[in-house]
Amino acid sequence: MKVQECVLSDELVTANSPEVALWDAIVVPRTIKERLRNQTVLSLLVRPDLPFEVTALHGLCTLYGPPGTGKTTLARGLPAQVASYVPGGEVRRIEINPHGLMSAEHGQSQQRVSELLGEYVPGLASDGTPTVVILDEVESMAVARSAASLAANPADVHRATDAVLTALDLNATQHPHLFFVATSNFTSALDEAFLSRSDAAILIPLPEPEALREILTSTLLTLAGKYPALGDLARSSAMDRIAETAHGLDGRRTRKVVFEALAQRLDTVLDPGRLTEDDLAAAVRNAVGETSQPEVPRAAY
Ligand SMILES: Nc1ncnc2c1ncn2[C@@H]1O[C@H](COP(=O)(O)OP(=O)(O)O)[C@@H](O)[C@H]1O
Ligand SMILES: [Mg+2]
Repeated sequence: MKVQECVLSDELVTANSPEVALWDAIVVPRTIKERLRNQTVLSLLVRPDLPFEVTALHGLCTLYGPPGTGKTTLARGLPAQVASYVPGGEVRRIEINPHGLMSAEHGQSQQRVSELLGEYVPGLASDGTPTVVILDEVESMAVARSAASLAANPADVHRATDAVLTALDLNATQHPHLFFVATSNFTSALDEAFLSRSDAAILIPLPEPEALREILTSTLLTLAGKYPALGDLARSSAMDRIAETAHGLDGRRTRKVVFEALAQRLDTVLDPGRLTEDDLAAAVRNAVGETSQPEVPRAAY
């Protein structure tokens, strides 16, 4: 696999780009979005003018937390959120899929990581436009060296992690217009040296009842555009009670549970407007029951 194929997207975005909707769709405490936005703007504004010795900023922020909590979506929406604050009003958004790199042949990962992060990505951004680079599910690259001892080819993983760290150090001093936003579904396996280079490591938690309610309601209200009766359900007081029972669901499952509710009866499949609060409550109960089952162990990296 060529390093170019690990770049999922490379485009210029402005504050009016459609990506704004991505950011808005994610329901998290306001302080989380503000911290992510502010850290990014600060980095893009300050680092080009001050030496690394003064700022000690690497231009890296890590979003971590359980799967399905909106990390990838926030990272994708971030460039449009910061565009209006940078000179020129435009931000380049580059999205990397690190998994492709790690499937490289034995012994090649380090070289690929260096080539991608140290040469190819800076090359894409060589015109100096403020650039946000998304490293989605970075754990596949920056895996803890202590945890890697069980992996099939630990030496290769170590070298790849070293290559990521070297590239981040290079970025810190030589490419101040690049800002990396990494996402990870877990942190216990993230390399400590990687985390210590993060200017901010932000936990994206499972949604609280209020957020669960907002996710359910907004999903129903969007559907109500086509099936108006769902607007009544969305605004009914039953939603508070249903949201309370959804405790433990992640954001993705909470959106899906509305469709799981519709799928329970052919009636509601054919006419979603007939969905009742009991249908929704039953689907939520079922989803919570499934997610509280003991977890299937994850494959060790
Ligand atoms: N906090 C949230 N609020 C609203 N929707 C969410 C939230 N978290 C996840 N979702 C839904 O799940 C989808 C997938 O989320 P994603 O960003 O891939 O999560 P992660 O990267 O944390 O696994 C989103 O597009 C959105 O529809
Ligand atoms: Mg993700």
